Amino acid sequence: MDADHRDLILGQRCSGRARRKRWARSSPPYTNAPGNPRRGAQFFQTICAVCHGFDGKAINFHSADDPEYVGTVAADNPWEALHKIRFGQPGVGMIALTALSMGTLVDILSYAQTLPTK
Ligand code: HEC
Repeated sequence: MDADHRDLILGQRCSGRARRKRWARSSPPYTNAPGNPRRGAQFFQTICAVCHGFDGKAINFHSADDPEYVGTVAADNPWEALHKIRFGQPGVGMIALTALSMGTLVDILSYAQTLPTK
């Protein structure tokens, strides 16, 4: 597990921290992010869908043969996904969302883990 991304989550002093800590210390796969996917959906569909599409498949990060979408990254590497959602990605049009609370970001991550991976 990526220690930097995990510490980012563990270091947050806000509600739900204990749940996130248990999740971060659990074993893979980490596809059960401790957020509220229904709440996350509202954020995803109004902020992220503009670029990533309502099903997260509008941008393919990898190749046509071996696609990688928001749902793929959220499932395979939730720490990286959370980091990208929070800080954006320099050099491309991916916005940083540090204005949102860690709880909301984890809600978005939880929803992203329900999106198609292929
Ligand atoms: C303004 C357009 C835009 C918005 C809005 C946006 N993204 Fe992105 N996102 C991008 C682009 C462009 C990339 C980089 C694509 C690449 O590397 O090929 C990216 C990359 C990512 C990645 C990283 C994939 C990797 O390489 O590891 C994740 C995860 C992600 N976005 C999730 C989200 C989520 C969740 C939201 C909403 C909270 C969001 N994005 C909002 C454009 C956007």
